[in-house]
Amino acid sequence: FEKNALGRPLNNVEILITAGPTREKIDPVRYFTNHSSGKMGYAIAEMAEKLGANVTLITGPTSLTPPEFVTTIQIESAQEMYDRVIELYPKSDVVIKSAAVADYRPINTYEQKLKKQNDDLHIKMERTTDILKELGKLKTHQLLVGFAAETNNVEEYAKKKLATKNLDLIVANNVTYEGAGFGTDTNIVTIYDRNQVSLELPLLTKQEVAKHLLEKVHVLLKGAR
Ligand code: CTP
Ligand code: CA
Repeated sequence: FEKNALGRPLNNVEILITAGPTREKIDPVRYFTNHSSGKMGYAIAEMAEKLGANVTLITGPTSLTPPEFVTTIQIESAQEMYDRVIELYPKSDVVIKSAAVADYRPINTYEQKLKKQNDDLHIKMERTTDILKELGKLKTHQLLVGFAAETNNVEEYAKKKLATKNLDLIVANNVTYEGAGFGTDTNIVTIYDRNQVSLELPLLTKQEVAKHLLEKVHVLLKGAR
């Protein structure tokens, strides 16, 4: 980092970060979700704040304590996350979408607890909105950062997402690697930009990954100003 006078390189930068899983309701006592712990997103929020940014964290349910001096908004469903993100998008300089957003939600939700009946149960699902893809379409001045958690063909899938979602950076990881999966305190990622430049990082704490990512963001912001 090339620090400014205050030693806070991201001073005055508005950063919106999403973290954690979403919950898609079935009935009052059940939902669909995933294994996201929120640790990566919270680490980015905390680090961005330390580096001087004005940070808003939009988070699904996690067991983590919201970072100090970060505006934290709790949501549950993909639709709620979408609504809050869209609302804050115009005034954001950077959006980092580390949340593991559900791709599908039940078409029908039940107001009363679903009683067991037959031997099998079919729950029909529909697609949620791809929040990041929408942001890519609506992009004016924002720098967009996506995540790609994959189990195979990591580079290919990550680069495809970078292009189709109109992102500036994508953070790819293979969740099957030891120390890189959901819920761990460490991660092994490669960061791709639009110029085919990649930064392949070793096993690091999520705090260290956050720092490398924000440094890359800082460099791109400087180029744009
Ligand atoms: N994402 C999003 N809204 C969704 C689904 C995904 O904003 N409804 C974002 C995630 O937050 C992440 C990026 O898109 O930053 C990639 O998510 P990922 O699940 O890896 O990719 P998908 O595009 O959903 O494709 P697939 O799950 O089929 O690999
Ligand atoms: Ca997905």
